[in-house]
Amino acid sequence: MNIANMKRVVSGIQPTGNLHLGNYLGAIRRWVKLQDEAECLIFLADLHAITDYIDPKELRANVNGMAAALIACGIDPEKAVLFNHARVPAHPEMAWILSCTARVGWLNRMTQFKEKSGKNREGASVGLYAYPVLQAADVLLYQATHVPVGEDQKQHVELMRDIAVKFNTDYEVDLFTLPEPHIGAQGARIMSLRDGNAKMSKSDPSDMSRINLSDDSDTIAQKIRKAKTDPEPLPETADALKDRPEALNLVTIYAALTDRTPDSVTQEYAGKGFGQFKPALADLLVETIAPIRAKLSDFEADPAALDAILVDGARKASELAAPTLEGAYRAVGLPR
Ligand code: TYM
Repeated sequence: MNIANMKRVVSGIQPTGNLHLGNYLGAIRRWVKLQDEAECLIFLADLHAITDYIDPKELRANVNGMAAALIACGIDPEKAVLFNHARVPAHPEMAWILSCTARVGWLNRMTQFKEKSGKNREGASVGLYAYPVLQAADVLLYQATHVPVGEDQKQHVELMRDIAVKFNTDYEVDLFTLPEPHIGAQGARIMSLRDGNAKMSKSDPSDMSRINLSDDSDTIAQKIRKAKTDPEPLPETADALKDRPEALNLVTIYAALTDRTPDSVTQEYAGKGFGQFKPALADLLVETIAPIRAKLSDFEADPAALDAILVDGARKASELAAPTLEGAYRAVGLPR
């Protein structure tokens, strides 16, 4: 990916639960790098967080908690515009306009809705179903060129492009920029520590399935010690791990943390068992996460400062969003 072509980068995260290693390696770590290369808007998708009932007090606390966590990970509000959805009404406004362009058949194909609604499709909220349209608004409002996300969000970014093309074509305008998904070479899909075929996720009921960025060093070491693996030693190449998903996941995490390829990791550990590999991985994780955790507690102590950062970010985001929102109203023929 040629970073020089990145003009504007937009991405978001739901403020539900803790940040975990999948969020960090799949998305946040890359946002931190990109904020020095391109104009970045990073937001807490709090309107997304209410698609499933969440205790209002918990949500309120999570918005600030997640903002603190992003700053602790290295997002600098002086470099990136950091805000929350709910403070920028242009997002739901644009989402309504785009929901009249998006087709039901397109939303029916969204795998994340199928996964999240499961067998209870009829009982899922309309918001959960329509959410990918809000996500399209989140990005199209800012003329974003790139959307850095983990692999699981790729389909949503493709949907944004389809919506943008149809809107531009239907209304004969050149309003929306087509955003590209920006998916990292390493860490785009971190799996559960208990099941190498399920993605690491905030919603997994077992806390042992994920490494949270708030976990202390002993907890991290214990989770890695107990991570599911197999008795075989590591092979020469990562390819040979394709039928050993849990082993492959640990190698992938190691590679992502050290910015190496999985093959170079297997070469180093070839012939060695997990008794040797796991402590090395745990040390690496502790080295990465301990400084984030330390910063996290500093920021959490000052909710007023966090609010001020988010209010300021929302003001900047609203200014950047206004021309495209106006353009969309004009294109569909609605006077304002
Ligand atoms: P969310 O909150 O589920 O996840 C935030 C980011 O973390 C990535 N991620 C992972 N990457 C690798 N391995 C994993 N196990 C893993 N789990 C999560 C996600 O891919 C994502 O990049 N709908 C989005 C939030 C959103 C958004 C947007 C993103 C709202 N509007 C506009 C981009 C652009 C979501 O629920 O992400």
